[in-house]
Amino acid sequence: MDIRENIPLAPYTTLKIGGPARFFASATKESDIAELVRFAKKNRRRLLVIGEGTNILVADVGFSGLVIKMEIKGRRVSASASASASASASAADPETVLVEASAGEIWDELVDWSVSEGLYGLENLSAIPGTVGAAPIQNIGAYGADASNVITNVRAFDTSKMAFVDLSNEDCRFSYRDSIFKQKKGRYIVTSVIFALKKRGRVNIEYRDLKEYFKRLGKTDPVALTPKMVREAVIEIRWGKLPDWKKWGTAGSFFKNPIISAKRYESIKAKYPDAPGFPEPDGRVKISAAWLLDRICKAKGLMEGNVGMYENQALVLVTKPGATAAAVVDFTTKLIEQIEHETTVKLEAEVEWVN
Ligand code: EPU
Repeated sequence: MDIRENIPLAPYTTLKIGGPARFFASATKESDIAELVRFAKKNRRRLLVIGEGTNILVADVGFSGLVIKMEIKGRRVSASASASASASASAADPETVLVEASAGEIWDELVDWSVSEGLYGLENLSAIPGTVGAAPIQNIGAYGADASNVITNVRAFDTSKMAFVDLSNEDCRFSYRDSIFKQKKGRYIVTSVIFALKKRGRVNIEYRDLKEYFKRLGKTDPVALTPKMVREAVIEIRWGKLPDWKKWGTAGSFFKNPIISAKRYESIKAKYPDAPGFPEPDGRVKISAAWLLDRICKAKGLMEGNVGMYENQALVLVTKPGATAAAVVDFTTKLIEQIEHETTVKLEAEVEWVN
């Protein structure tokens, strides 16, 4: 295999920041993964798997291990899906189509294809940059949907067992922007994901921005809407809130929305009566990091040198050429401290720190 040395990582990330990888290789087939893991173990090097690099902040000194660029491609529908027991159970349902996509596929190409087939399930997750393999890792979510709602199985290389394993949705331990792949960091390398999509269904336009969008068009009955219409709406909404990825360095939302106790939320409301909170199934409340940044730090459009927050969305960090990881850490640490000082809530990065 072609394992290259000292490869600058900045061009492989959408933040366009970061020093070199000590070792770097592309994986285009499953057997490459096993071979590269053996190489890393033999040389006592850590592993980092990247897709499109849309959610990582690489340190200026770079990464001293082996970076695997995931480029395994392919998509199979239903019959040929490497279905496990639970997946084949859903395949028996004539309304369900199982789609297995390889980790290196571009996420939005999968979504685009699924809506063009008239399938329900991925439309709310339109226009999210990145690869299919990254979707289960941080359980990508947007506009009222999470990838975990439609993932039935994940195939991965287990670096402890040195074998490929098939994980069910339950095995993946999904929650908000979290999964076993983050909890047991470094153990699994995702190689493909199986999604259960529906031939017939009902779109979900409960998320405020989507509801308002269709209300403006006078289309409030979800039954009359297709996945394609929802995809178009999501693309338009995202376009207004997220920066042009070609123009700015960015990784989308930089922080997670904090989930706090109802009691804690009440105490924040006492100080900031209009602080938005969204109830979680377990009784806790998800509060808006964007709102905190906007209200407390006046973060929209706030720039410090080559680093700042996007003018239309306070949660989205942007960088200009010349930005360093150190400058991002400096800038975001100040925001975290300011919010913690005002509310006692400590924002956590959503973007993964690589060093
Ligand atoms: N808000 C403000 N000021 C702002 C932006 C938002 O006050 O500048 C408030 C508004 O009250 C709004 C609320 O925050 O109703 C939520 O804002 P938005 O709908 O834009 O969602 P978000 O919480 O900022 C999350 C995801 C995004 C996803 C959107 C849409 C996280 C960390 N981020 O953002 O995901 O696209 O919802 O569903 O959960 C990403 O992860 O990279 C990402 C872009």
